[in-house]
Amino acid sequence: MSNRYAIVLAAGKGTRMKSKLYKVLHPVLGKPMVQHVVDQLKPLGLEDIITVVGFGAEKVQEQLGDTAQFVVQEEQLGTGHAVQQAEKYLGGKQGTTIVVCGDTPLLTEETIQAALDHHESEQAAVTILTAVADDPTGYGRIVRDDSGQVNKIVEHKDATPAEQAIQEINTGTFCFDNEMLFAALQQVSNDNSQGEYYLPDVIQIAQEQKQKVAAFLTDNFDETIGVNDRVALAKAEVLMKKRVNEHHMRNGVTIIDPANTYIGVDVEIAADVVIEPGTVLKGNTKVEADAIIGPHSEVNDSHIGEGTVVRHSLANESYIGKRVQIGPFAHIRPAADIGNDVKIGNFVEIKKAKVDNNSKVSHLSYIGDAEIGSGVNVGCGTITVNYDGKNKFKTFIEDDAFIGCNANLIAPVRIGKGALIAAGSTIHEDVPGNALSIGRAKQVNKEEYAKKYK
Ligand code: UD1
Ligand code: CA
Repeated sequence: MSNRYAIVLAAGKGTRMKSKLYKVLHPVLGKPMVQHVVDQLKPLGLEDIITVVGFGAEKVQEQLGDTAQFVVQEEQLGTGHAVQQAEKYLGGKQGTTIVVCGDTPLLTEETIQAALDHHESEQAAVTILTAVADDPTGYGRIVRDDSGQVNKIVEHKDATPAEQAIQEINTGTFCFDNEMLFAALQQVSNDNSQGEYYLPDVIQIAQEQKQKVAAFLTDNFDETIGVNDRVALAKAEVLMKKRVNEHHMRNGVTIIDPANTYIGVDVEIAADVVIEPGTVLKGNTKVEADAIIGPHSEVNDSHIGEGTVVRHSLANESYIGKRVQIGPFAHIRPAADIGNDVKIGNFVEIKKAKVDNNSKVSHLSYIGDAEIGSGVNVGCGTITVNYDGKNKFKTFIEDDAFIGCNANLIAPVRIGKGALIAAGSTIHEDVPGNALSIGRAKQVNKEEYAKKYK
């Protein structure tokens, strides 16, 4: 195997997206397109991954961080010109260079690997990854001669009607002999309908130099679609969603309505999880066996333990243990740490709070900046009063405490182990373990008094 390098083209303006967001940063299943591309390249054992970014594209660099090196293409003069910018890193090196467009988010590692293997076994100077499209509109067409050899690639806008009828397209992914690539690019002109330096013109130059041009035809066009506008973006989203969902279903996850289930590419789900309709799982979420998520739940960057049920609820950046019941209509906000066998019921919000094993917060509560021990019962409507308008304070509720309905716990405050708080209390001083605390106005009944008002 020779040395391998990659160039990711990501400098195009993306005019057809009609967006202030840089084209390759538009997400597919929650991950920017260019990140999908780089993530598929990373496992291939490449010497360098060079991303060509446009002027002012700091955001692409921010997104990719140190997973890639960058060169700036100050003016977007075409894909050939874009590749040329990488010469300062790759010029003079021996080996194979893969060029991939940053707007082909569905392309897989396996297909790129297969194209590379084909390229090396054919000992070609260039190998084009091609596919057959039902509707090839907008793509460059692969023009072959009578013997089936690739002659050239002609862009849609430059194609004759006969060429436009060709369904085999240039996917935008190429393998090149590195030295041949940079030499040939010097001969590419911009004499075409768009006035751009086209990378595909290298093919014709290689042909003229009697260098070997190969094509690797993938049977999966869907994997190669280029996203130029929001219609294609929506198509990519559907295809990626299908791919991810089918992967999980094959691994033993039940997805009741795959068309209405959105699972990010980095989400991990164990076998025998059931995903109900309308569910969104994003980021670095992990769902353990036998959990049931949904219907209509969203989980971001969170851990959901074995056998836990999350119905009609939202969870963000939190840890949720085993056999927990969440919802309906619960809001688990960042830094919630929920133990095993806990119940977080309807209209409960948990923020930056630990709720230990076997505790219940069943209805209509706000628990923020708190530590709740195990076996605690938090009655309906209980609120941790954590904020005085300037600072946040913490509430501690020790094991086996029982908080009556509608209590206000004014932090900082500590409710001792086994303590009992009377319903309707406003508690602003610590309560010792096993004490009963009542913090409410004494009730007065005035006999017959109501009649006066009627
Ligand atoms: C390109 C190919 C076409 C192929 C299609 C596959 C050319 C001339 N055409 O067309 O044959 O069928 O991809 O999807 O190569 N870019 C730069 N700098 C530039 C121009 C583009 O970095 O100056 C980047 C873009 O960000 C994009 C990629 O190159 O990621 C492709 O450019 P785009 O304008 O999308 O080309 P297509 O018209 O789709
Ligand atoms: Ca494109």
